[in-house]
Amino acid sequence: MNLQAPRGTHDVLPEEAVRWRRLEEAARACFERCGYEEIRPPLFEHAALYFKSSGETSDIVRKEMFTFGDPNEEGASFALRPELTPGVIRALVEADLFKKRGFWKLWYLGPAFRRERPQKGRFRQFTQLGVEAVGSADPLVDAETMILFADLLGMVGVRSWELRINSMGCGGCRGACREALRRAVEPDLGRFCQDCRSRFSRNVFRVLDCKNQACVEMAARLPATAERVCAHCRAHMESVENALRRADVPYRVDPRIVRGLDYYTRTVYEFSSPALGSQDALCGGGRYDTLVGDMGGPCVGSVGFAAGAERILMAMGEGTAPRAPDFFAVAVAEEFRADVFRLVTDLRRAGFSGDMDFEGRSIKAQMRSANRSGARYALLLGPQESARGMVRVKDMKDGTERDATPEEAKAILSGRRP
Ligand code: HAM
Repeated sequence: MNLQAPRGTHDVLPEEAVRWRRLEEAARACFERCGYEEIRPPLFEHAALYFKSSGETSDIVRKEMFTFGDPNEEGASFALRPELTPGVIRALVEADLFKKRGFWKLWYLGPAFRRERPQKGRFRQFTQLGVEAVGSADPLVDAETMILFADLLGMVGVRSWELRINSMGCGGCRGACREALRRAVEPDLGRFCQDCRSRFSRNVFRVLDCKNQACVEMAARLPATAERVCAHCRAHMESVENALRRADVPYRVDPRIVRGLDYYTRTVYEFSSPALGSQDALCGGGRYDTLVGDMGGPCVGSVGFAAGAERILMAMGEGTAPRAPDFFAVAVAEEFRADVFRLVTDLRRAGFSGDMDFEGRSIKAQMRSANRSGARYALLLGPQESARGMVRVKDMKDGTERDATPEEAKAILSGRRP
């Protein structure tokens, strides 16, 4: 019996959970100060949702979905969510939220699942945090999402990143861009890799982001989509760029950013980190102006991104120390454990963090635990303190000790009293 976690999954152990929480709290604060509201779609959906939205030509839908049926429901096919965007839009449309107002700014944070080949930074269960701004065609919203993510990286201490943007064109000009690209690729098609040859008919834009070295060199000579898009798309892109410049968010226009999902229109972008190796994408996003209408909602413009939390944590490095507790309480003898327990409960209810020994250990071993916990103060309770309704407060930093009433102890723990 194999009792190890399945390949491509990982446990978040207590020490690591501290760093997770720091990222989650920063993300929440960042999203909410920009007016985004939380949404929590389910972990699995009808598989057809992803065929319709993420797209049948995308690798994610063709090769990477975990699908399953239901023996009690003939023909049912479900998929663990490989991304959250389709579920978020389905939820908005299903709940008829557009009746309430036309513009929704939503954020989410939760697991996603892809049957990919696991490697460093690439998992089968990973965590996406992201936003969807649904119901606006304003290029300033595109910029807002990028600025927001750049600011989040700053908040969690990721200093080294690159933002690359591109335009995929709209319904009006996309066809002409696709044809121009096909015409340019076709004469050399035999020299492209097997994957690119199949992409040629499915979604020729993907030839531009192939990682195979020979394809990269040939792709560099292909026409850039951003230069062929219509005047409206070009004006949109210029507005996005202006807003990024005014916000001091550095970026680069990169024709190779074409994204692996079918729903994108106009702006597409990726943040990457040089600290990450081959799976260097921290975040990907863009505009999807036809998806909401295609899914039965109003025909409104939308834009969003999703970021891989594991990758942000890798880029953050190891430097997040867990917050030290305020106290560790020590029973000088067995008969004072009940009093120590009462003191600990009282202090926790007053908002202090701390612990005591639950293994019946000697006073020496309890002091070692106090040390190891990193608590600023050890609180000792023995016969003398107990008789006088006091507690002995030991400052673990300088070793000084003094007796205090429980109220005085609280003042010391909160730093109100030296
Ligand atoms: P995506 O580029 O497929 O876009 O994924 C977004 C991010 O999820 C990636 O940049 C990466 O950080 C992380 N990620 C993807 N796959 C894995 C994996 N196997 N292991 C670890 N991390 C991974 C989307 O999912 C779109 N829904 C983004 C979006 C939202 N576009 C508009 N709105």
